[in-house]
Amino acid sequence: MEMLQGKIRKEVKDKTELALSEPGMVKVQGMVQTVREMGGFTFVELRLRDGVVQCIIDAMTILEGADSIRDEYSVRCSAELVREQRAPDGLELHLRQVQVLSVPAAPRPIHLGRPVRKMNLETELSWRPISLRHEYYRSVFRIKAALLRGFREFLTAQGFVEINTPRIVLSGAEGGSNIFQLDYFNNKACLAQSPQLYKQMLVGVYQRVFEVGPVFRAEKHNTVRHLNEYTSLDLEMGFIDSFHDIMNMETALLQSMLELVAASCADDVDRLKLKLPDAESIPAVRFSEIREKISRVYGRKIRDPWDMEPEEEKLICEYIKKEHGCDFVFVTHYPTRKRPFYALEDPADPNYTLSFDLLFQGMEITTGGQRIHDYDQQVAKLKARGLDPEDFKSYLMIHRYGMPPHGGLGLGLERLVMMLLGQKNIRQAAMFPRDTGRLDP
Ligand code: 4AD
Repeated sequence: MEMLQGKIRKEVKDKTELALSEPGMVKVQGMVQTVREMGGFTFVELRLRDGVVQCIIDAMTILEGADSIRDEYSVRCSAELVREQRAPDGLELHLRQVQVLSVPAAPRPIHLGRPVRKMNLETELSWRPISLRHEYYRSVFRIKAALLRGFREFLTAQGFVEINTPRIVLSGAEGGSNIFQLDYFNNKACLAQSPQLYKQMLVGVYQRVFEVGPVFRAEKHNTVRHLNEYTSLDLEMGFIDSFHDIMNMETALLQSMLELVAASCADDVDRLKLKLPDAESIPAVRFSEIREKISRVYGRKIRDPWDMEPEEEKLICEYIKKEHGCDFVFVTHYPTRKRPFYALEDPADPNYTLSFDLLFQGMEITTGGQRIHDYDQQVAKLKARGLDPEDFKSYLMIHRYGMPPHGGLGLGLERLVMMLLGQKNIRQAAMFPRDTGRLDP
């Protein structure tokens, strides 16, 4: 019987290791990105796990398993590593032996050598399994993964416990009509709009919890900032003095996530020519006050005193950037009528809630705030909204049987990635975006 000891084979080098290696013989494996014939040599760009490296095939190269090399062949090679000033990153591999492991059935349908901005988004998304092989997208999703890692590491260090709550639920947690209904063994169910009610329940268990997971919004409109499935980064914490504790936690969280991107994705940050924003200190401004200010400064009429328009979010960010040099801004005290039933009203003026949005370069990326923890208050608010407390019986257990003052936030990961990377469309920040017209791939 074969016994496995968890030995991991490690004879091939990745690009980071090549950059640190002395010239000499090395082994690499990867897929062919492009092949170019020039001056009697064949130049091959080989896509390794962590980057593309320039290789040369010459008369001395032994080729096994095929007569020639083409795009997307999988190969394992022995090569001489050479320092070459003219090559990208100053290194080049002179291939000595190339073993072809797999040959594609058809030529690659799209270019991977061309800048992504020259590609059509529809084409890109239709060929998604292949367009994701582009170096641009490999960088985008490595940065997205680093942001996620930063979220998990920071919150774990702050004593938060990672939770996993159901995606198939009885009812919507955020109100509104954007709920995907489904048939669940002849009962009505829906896809989770957010983990809101469950994360609150778990504050009663652990005080501090966080969750990373997909959430579903049946938005029928097609915009550059909405997906029908997105990744929600949620946190919820008990024993807060006010929602300012949550805004402070988010400020420290963003600082830490951005630091991790800078430290672990330096090559990707360089490749995308990113200037990471500064989240050292983030101003907080009141909803009504900043809207009036913007209206005065930009001569723009407030059409609905209770609802902020996307254009106003842009102007607020523009104004804050000009006056304070900040890319982020917390807008606090959102109107009660625009917030869900769990939001705590401001005792000083119940028309507003103790809640906030975080805007980043003109876009809302987070919603958060303090929640109602008192049973009678929560039941009264459900009733006032025309909701039946019976339908929220299990949620109300926490209020009925005891909850500390608490609050939290939900950060839309694809919105953060989109704005951080200067993308024009949120679909570019999702590997396989779901929108009204796209269910495949
Ligand atoms: O404002 P939302 O709906 O708030 C909640 O889900 C609350 N449970 C959060 C909380 O803890 N109070 O969504 C939160 C964030 C938004 O700020 C936005 O970044 C993102 O989720 N978001 C979307 N991202 C992509 N596509 C959509 N359709 C989105 N809807 C919201």
